[in-house]
Amino acid sequence: MASEENLPNSYFAFDLLKKLKVPYHVRRHSLKVAEKALDLAEKMDENDVDKDLIEIGGILHDIGRSKTHGFKHAIIGAKILKERGFSKRLSRICETHMLGGLDKEDAKQVGLPERDYMPLTLEEKIICLADKHIAGTKDVSIEQRFEKWFSKYGKTQILTKAKERIDIIKKEIENLSK
Ligand SMILES: [Fe+2]
Repeated sequence: MASEENLPNSYFAFDLLKKLKVPYHVRRHSLKVAEKALDLAEKMDENDVDKDLIEIGGILHDIGRSKTHGFKHAIIGAKILKERGFSKRLSRICETHMLGGLDKEDAKQVGLPERDYMPLTLEEKIICLADKHIAGTKDVSIEQRFEKWFSKYGKTQILTKAKERIDIIKKEIENLSK
């Protein structure tokens, strides 16, 4: 990757969460997501994925929860990282990690500016998937995660679409794994 790209190291990234007062349980969740994402990346060809980006993206994906736990945390997180001059690849990870990514229609429904927030790169997809696997700090299956959401919120269109997208991402990553 370009050497001028600003990617903090993991200590700096974790300290930043504390400094911005991201709640303790979110910080623990974030470390678990980073760990899970690295586990997924470990099985892939190292030419295909940037593990540094995955680790730091995992640590910082929920940094917007320093301000809100609503859907806006993704764009707030991206803004925080952009303002600090960090790599755009990191802010994209923030923006695209919710559910299975959000399309314009989903965005409108949850009150976000109407555009796509879909994970496109492998790193974005890996963080999005790892985040679904980590409920709090617990590693769960995708089926378990969505069953829980379905029973809480019903089989809503947005959740059904999310499940389909995550299943596709999961398959894609499995197909690229050794
Ligand atoms: Fe999040």
